[in-house]
Amino acid sequence: MSAERHLWWQRGVIYQIYPRSFMDGNDDGIGDLPGILSRLDYLEWLGVDAIWLSPIFPSPMADFGYDVSDYVGIDPVFGTMEDFDRLVREAHARGMRVLLDFVANHTSDQHPWFLESRSSRQSPKRDWYIWRDAAPGGGPPNNWLSAFGGSAWEWDAETGQYYFHAFLKEQPDLNWRNPDVQRAMLDAMRFWFDRGVDGFRLDAIWHLIKDGQFRDNPPNPDYKPTDSPYHRLLPVFTTDRPEIHPVLAMMRRLADEYDERVLIGEIYLPVERLVTYYGLSEPELHLPYNFQLLLLPWDARRIQATIDVYEALLPSGAWPNWVLGNHDRPRIASRVGRAQARVATMLLLTLRGTPTIYYGDEIGMVNVEIPPEAIQDPVERTAGRGFGRDPERTPMQWDSAPNAGFTRGQPWLPLSPDYPTCNVEAQRDDPRSILTLHRRLLALRRAEPALSIGSYRSLPAEGELIAYLREDGERRFLIVLNFGHWVRRYACGQIDLRGSVVLSTYLDREGEMVDRDLLLRPDEGVIIGLTG
Ligand code: NOJ
Ligand code: CA
Repeated sequence: MSAERHLWWQRGVIYQIYPRSFMDGNDDGIGDLPGILSRLDYLEWLGVDAIWLSPIFPSPMADFGYDVSDYVGIDPVFGTMEDFDRLVREAHARGMRVLLDFVANHTSDQHPWFLESRSSRQSPKRDWYIWRDAAPGGGPPNNWLSAFGGSAWEWDAETGQYYFHAFLKEQPDLNWRNPDVQRAMLDAMRFWFDRGVDGFRLDAIWHLIKDGQFRDNPPNPDYKPTDSPYHRLLPVFTTDRPEIHPVLAMMRRLADEYDERVLIGEIYLPVERLVTYYGLSEPELHLPYNFQLLLLPWDARRIQATIDVYEALLPSGAWPNWVLGNHDRPRIASRVGRAQARVATMLLLTLRGTPTIYYGDEIGMVNVEIPPEAIQDPVERTAGRGFGRDPERTPMQWDSAPNAGFTRGQPWLPLSPDYPTCNVEAQRDDPRSILTLHRRLLALRRAEPALSIGSYRSLPAEGELIAYLREDGERRFLIVLNFGHWVRRYACGQIDLRGSVVLSTYLDREGEMVDRDLLLRPDEGVIIGLTG
């Protein structure tokens, strides 16, 4: 296998930027494109291959950009189209790709298409959204729920019908069965491809089409009171519908008209269903996002099994991918603790497949407690206390200056109290920091194709250890990760365990010779270059 035969999005590492929180260029307290531009050198230094920007399009910001009112513009809060073109140019000049977030499932309720659609039942755009009469006895047409709480149906008194919204009521779902909708949305994708965008992360893509017969969703027998209210029903008639696949194939054909563009899909489904999004009869997504590491308990046996099952279920030619954090889920360092977050980083960056790093995880940012008066995310209100996503969206911590160097204004969300010590500047030159660990792992991945495109083989391990081999030609690496907080010994009868430590999550034992067995310290991961 040679690195040349793999495309950039197979070899590379993606870095997710939540633009509101990355860097503020004009001191209004909200991150923006000029801010990102000013930090491109940092991203290049870190060694990532692509940036994915959460939505930057014009938006009333009911869901902070995931409610788009114009698919082919830039919201003034983030900057101008000139700023965007400059960002693409300057990222490309540094060898980095730029991915946008395409919110395909729904628009803003302020999008001109929806304003037109809701203006009258006779509107030529009425069918661009999902309108239904009330149930015979009154009330919503069926029991479908919004992922953000309450019924998915919103009454429109003016025209006497309900419209469907999988998320907020300010985010009406498009009717993707309508060919005019398909055309308009594909034109928007084309607009950005023509501007040099290297691909899209497709938002909520498993929601794209709803049941044509509008059947009720069945109750979820496994519902627990601690789950969000949305999970009271199994969303079998509102998500993962078969008609999604031809639409994705159409998007893929468009992407394939261009050179090496990538389509990534946000999909929260069991892995057996997830893998169908690579394509059934035709190619669909390059990377259906694999969120298993985000969702599973941090348990070595379970995670090793998950990796092996995922590898086994991948269709032939399908490229794997892994995610540890995003703007909707608690931070990894809070979930597993700071020490294990290093082990998690080594796992993410040594598994086979494309990793996505969430901004701030490289310095070990944690969930930030948000005082009630500072809450921004509407989901905290619509789904209930504790479901909001502000804690994982706080400003990037650049240095120890006020507001961590993110802004000289009033930040839109509070900073983590740990920023005076947990920041990029403090960690940059610290040979033992988690930032240095990221940088070393990224450099190693780049230098050693075995770690990016090489084969993966699971090795027997017990208790809190995970072990696997990555191999490309003559180059062989053994990765052993200690998910526990105690010293552990690893011995393996299946391979000749001779070589030397290439990297430890402690960043202190490189070059140490290994012969037959290996001791791991608490919360330690190691990469061994095998010679035997
Ligand atoms: C998934 C996005 O990641 C999330 O942030 C957003 O609120 C919903 N889709 C709705 O667009
Ligand atoms: Ca700003």
